[in-house]
Amino acid sequence: MTGSFQRAPMRTLVTGAARGLGRDIALKLADQGHLVLACDASAAVSELGGERGGRIRTMQLDLTESDADRMLVGGAIELLGGLDALVNNAGVGGPGTLLEHTTDADLEQVLAVNLLSPARLCRAALPILRRGGRGRIVNVGSLFANHPQSHGVAYSMSKGALAALTRSLAVEEGPYGTTVNTVSPGYMLTGMHREEAALQAALRGVGVAEELERISSAIPMRRHGTGEDVAATVAWLLSEPAGYVSGQDIPVNGAAAFG
Ligand SMILES: NC(=O)c1ccc[n+]([C@@H]2O[C@H](COP(=O)([O-])OP(=O)(O)OC[C@H]3O[C@@H](n4cnc5c(N)ncnc54)[C@H](O)[C@@H]3O)[C@@H](O)[C@H]2O)c1
Repeated sequence: MTGSFQRAPMRTLVTGAARGLGRDIALKLADQGHLVLACDASAAVSELGGERGGRIRTMQLDLTESDADRMLVGGAIELLGGLDALVNNAGVGGPGTLLEHTTDADLEQVLAVNLLSPARLCRAALPILRRGGRGRIVNVGSLFANHPQSHGVAYSMSKGALAALTRSLAVEEGPYGTTVNTVSPGYMLTGMHREEAALQAALRGVGVAEELERISSAIPMRRHGTGEDVAATVAWLLSEPAGYVSGQDIPVNGAAAFG
């Protein structure tokens, strides 16, 4: 007999994949041979359908809907034939207000999307991830979990708690061979970041372009990060060589934390 043994492709669910980092993560993973279920609340996610030789399937779903977790895991089983990896990428930036002006509804919305939905999705996915003995979970955190700035309490607390979820789940799922990690981007030039920069620009009384320039020039690597920077790190964490890396928080920020 000739030829080497080839593993079946990873079947991977990526949330928040209609734009920004999630879109780049879904495309990168499909490029690397994953079968991907790309999910988003936005109908624009359907544009990814059939990309990369048909390796991407899509589902339009708001993660905060009741039963979204079970519908997504069911969707992965139906459309991909199973589930080996989960990338909790969907997130919202929050109201951009000081805590004293942040409503209960704003707090609940940020925590629902950034923390509770990932926790529920992990919970729904765990039994099926365990089956293959090589399950992977990546939660997309943020530099702002540990390096907060004003007008972002809800967002920072959601991402800090998400990193705590990662660490706890890594301990619980280790015996089943599932790794759980956080990837924490810094300043990435996406729709979310432009909205945040517009808010900070308004607070400072400057233009958005000037604010973006101020941010990038303060990053030690002197540039914003890209979706590719984050996608490559996620892809590595889902790869076989990263199989003993678990419970970690991997920053992708051009050393912004030290700038
Ligand atoms: N851009 C940055 O600089 C940056 C920095 C640190 C962390 N992050 C994190 O990276 C992740 C992706 O950020 P991005 O910059 O690509 O944001 P983005 O706003 O460009 O994209 C987020 C995607 O998530 C989707 N989404 C939001 N709420 C949803 C819900 N309830 N159900 C389903 N889908 C939903 C949106 O429709 C959107 O397509 C987020 O978790 C964010 O907190 C981003």
